[in-house]
Amino acid sequence: MHTRRTFLTSTVAAAVAAALVGCGRSADDNGRTSTPSTTGAAEPAATDKRRIGRSDIAISPLVLGGNVFGWTADRERSFEILDRFVEAGFETIDTADVYSRWVPGNRGGESETIIGEWMRSRGNRDRIILITKGGGEMEDYKGLSAATLQRAVDASLQRLQTDYIDIYFSHFPDPQTPHEETLAAYQKLIEAGKIRIIGASNFTADQVRQALDVAATNGLPRYEILQPRYNLYDRGDFEGPLRDLAIAEELGVITYSSLASGFLTGKYRSEADLSQSQRGGSVARYLNERGMRILDALDDVARRHNAAPADVALAWIIVREGVTAPIASATSVEQLDTLVRAPALAKALTKEDLEQLDQASAV
Ligand SMILES: NC(=O)c1ccc[n+]([C@@H]2O[C@H](COP(=O)([O-])OP(=O)(O)OC[C@H]3O[C@@H](n4cnc5c(N)ncnc54)[C@H](OP(=O)(O)O)[C@@H]3O)[C@@H](O)[C@H]2O)c1
Repeated sequence: MHTRRTFLTSTVAAAVAAALVGCGRSADDNGRTSTPSTTGAAEPAATDKRRIGRSDIAISPLVLGGNVFGWTADRERSFEILDRFVEAGFETIDTADVYSRWVPGNRGGESETIIGEWMRSRGNRDRIILITKGGGEMEDYKGLSAATLQRAVDASLQRLQTDYIDIYFSHFPDPQTPHEETLAAYQKLIEAGKIRIIGASNFTADQVRQALDVAATNGLPRYEILQPRYNLYDRGDFEGPLRDLAIAEELGVITYSSLASGFLTGKYRSEADLSQSQRGGSVARYLNERGMRILDALDDVARRHNAAPADVALAWIIVREGVTAPIASATSVEQLDTLVRAPALAKALTKEDLEQLDQASAV
C-alpha cells in the first residue's frame, strides 16, 4: 500500500498556477495548459494538461477506458494496453466497480482487479490518476446511499490495491437518496483520504444543478467533474443545458463512448461488419444515412491529415467547448497506438475540418 496522501482542498487554482509557472506552462481560460515549444517541433501531446474543474488535479487530454479489462481484453492483453498508454506519456485511467459484470461468469470488479494488479506489479500508483465509479448495480448493493458508498469505496480500494482514488464518480443518479446524504458520505470519504474529488456520470443538467446547490448550501463537497456520453453521433446528452452548466460552473467533463463503441473508427460500414467484434451489436444503431455521412467526413479529414478516422473523432471532442478529455478504450496495442495520436491531431484540425465534421453530424 502506498502512504495515504494529504490533499489540498482550497486555493487549488493558485496551487496549480504556481506549479505551472514552475514548469514553464501556461493555463488558458478553460484551465487548459500547454508547454511552449522552443524548437518548433511538435511537443508530445500528452504533456498538455487540463485542470479538472476547480480542483488541484490536471490530466492529459485522453483518458483510457477500462470497461474492456476482463471483457474484450484479458489480463495479459490489458497489461499490454496499460503499459503502452503510460509509455505514451498518459496517466488517467477510467474504470467502475461494475466493470465487467455483464460478462457471463463475472461478478463485477474484474476491471478494477486487473488495474490494481497492474499498478502493483509496475509500482506506479503515484504516477496514475485513477478514476472509478460506484452506484451501479453490484451483486448485493447499488445506489448512492451513505452505507452503500462506504462499502463500495472500500471494496474498490481493495481491488485496486491502493488506499486512495483520485476521482470517484456517482455512476448513475439515485432518485431514492437525497443529495445531502450522498454528498455528506463523500465528505467523510474525502476527509478519510480515500477519495480526492467527486464526479457525476449520466446526470441531467437539473440533477447536477440540484446537487451543486445542496453542496453550496450545506458546505459539502461539490461534483467537480461530469461524465456524459458524447461523440460525433451522440451529441444530445451533453450539448445544451449540461454543457452550459459545466461551463458556467467550471466543471471538468470527460466523455464516454467517444468512439461510439468503435463505430467512429470506420470499421463498421454494413451489417456484415458487425460480427467483427463482440460489441458489434451495440453499433447497429449507427448504420444509417447520418452515420455514413459522419464516416465520410471522418475519412476526408483523416486523409488530409494522414490520420485515422478514430483519431479525428477523438480530436474533434478534444477541441469541443467545455470538454476536458475524451475517454476511449482499446482492445489491442495497435488500436491504442492510433488513439494516442488524437491530442496532437487536435492541434492541427482546421476551421474547415471542424465545419465539415459539424455539418456531417447535424441532426
Ligand atoms: N459512465 C458511464 O456510464 C460509461 C458508459 C460507457 C463507457 N464508459 C467509459 O468509457 C470508456 C469507453 O467507452 P465505450 O466502452 O463506449 O467505447 P468507445 O471508446 O466508444 O469505443 C472503444 C472500442 O472501439 C474499438 N476500437 C478502439 N480503437 C480502435 C481502433 N483504433 N481501431 C478499431 N477499433 C477500435 C474497441 O473495441 P473492439 O476492439 O471490441 O471493436 C474499443 O473497445 C469505457 O471503457 C468506460 O471507461 C462509461
